Amino acid sequence: MLSESQNRLLTQTGAGTPMGDLLRRYWWPIAGASEFDEAPTKPVRLMGENLVLYRDRGGTYGLLDRHCPHRRADLSFGFAEECGLRCAYHGWHFDAQGRCLEQPYDDTAHPEAKLKDQVRVKAYPVEECGGLLWAYLGPQPAPCLPRWEFFFWKNGFRQIVLSELPCNWLQCQENSIDPVHTEWQHRNWEIRHAGKDGPYSETHRKVGFEEFDYGFTYKRVMEAGTDTDPLWTIGRVCLWPYALFTGSHVEFRVPVDDENTLSVGWFFARVPKESEPYEQNSIPTWQGPVRDEKTGRLIGSHIMNQDFIAWIGQGALADRSKEFLGASDLGVAMIRRRFLADLDAIAAGRDPKAIIRDAATAKNVALPVAERAEFMDGANRADISPRKRVFPFQAGMPDAVKHAFEEAMGFPIKA
Ligand code: FES
Ligand SMILES: [Fe+2]
Repeated sequence: MLSESQNRLLTQTGAGTPMGDLLRRYWWPIAGASEFDEAPTKPVRLMGENLVLYRDRGGTYGLLDRHCPHRRADLSFGFAEECGLRCAYHGWHFDAQGRCLEQPYDDTAHPEAKLKDQVRVKAYPVEECGGLLWAYLGPQPAPCLPRWEFFFWKNGFRQIVLSELPCNWLQCQENSIDPVHTEWQHRNWEIRHAGKDGPYSETHRKVGFEEFDYGFTYKRVMEAGTDTDPLWTIGRVCLWPYALFTGSHVEFRVPVDDENTLSVGWFFARVPKESEPYEQNSIPTWQGPVRDEKTGRLIGSHIMNQDFIAWIGQGALADRSKEFLGASDLGVAMIRRRFLADLDAIAAGRDPKAIIRDAATAKNVALPVAERAEFMDGANRADISPRKRVFPFQAGMPDAVKHAFEEAMGFPIKA
């Protein structure tokens, strides 16, 4: 349980709030690079700031204030130029550093005034890694973008799924350190929604939590399990500060503002050995629906959709002053304490947890992976179990992505 003021402190995301300033010390994934094959601009809202992300004709990405500094037109309707973005209203033209390169009327009629030299638009750095576009909104010098090892794994079919959730990001991230919810929110959920009353999921015999350089791990032993299971000896990763990483996928919880979150799922399916070497030139990005269009109800058919139901159900901003924590919530308490300690760290001028400033370290960051051999070694097609011939994570995979996925794997996929 937190006091109301601690809860408010930990859930604010805006610039100038303590937590908003802490979150700005990290790079955040905000879009899939493949989205820009369709359209050169995308309106983005990140930690309460309205921005436009674009790819210019030269292939450079930029992230600018959504509103043109001239008379506030929406730059997401602007035109990509060879270098930079041009406002559609009067043609002012900006580069990725926020400089104004051109003002068509003023440049012609009053070139001596050099008005454009006085104009800047807010601009943030963007980097690409793993088919994702990453933004940094914090103070300079920016830390290195951590290039997590899974982004470099070979022979995988990868896909990115984006979903907008009407709730605060922290309640989503607390789920990254919550092993026990899988019993009811996932396994038993499916049993009950199939109209059955059992047999229910195995229960957890014990859970454990540990901190490491790049986050926390949670560990579990199920009823029939032992202390030698990789899910106990290695566990799963609550990746700092923003994600759950399991090996087959990573779920980033990106703060849109205090009451909205962008879920960015990044999925890796190792292709069968018969399909190696497999090169995927572009990682498809799709929008994962959260509600059933016909009924308006939240979709509960897939694992992450079930999680979304839990988080959205906690309210736009979960009231942690009214909760009652038990032994399984130790990990949740640990990550809250780490955030509170890091607020003190940045106030004292230190870097918070998991900031990497050494480029060699950031180049390829290894993480605990319980089923590492599965991802490193692969398997023959005949040995890939029916359970691995399903995409269980999110509803709504588009047909084109499904076809590409099936082609890569060489067998049908149940989506
Ligand atoms: S409002 Fe953008 S150029 Fe005028
Ligand atoms: Fe879950």
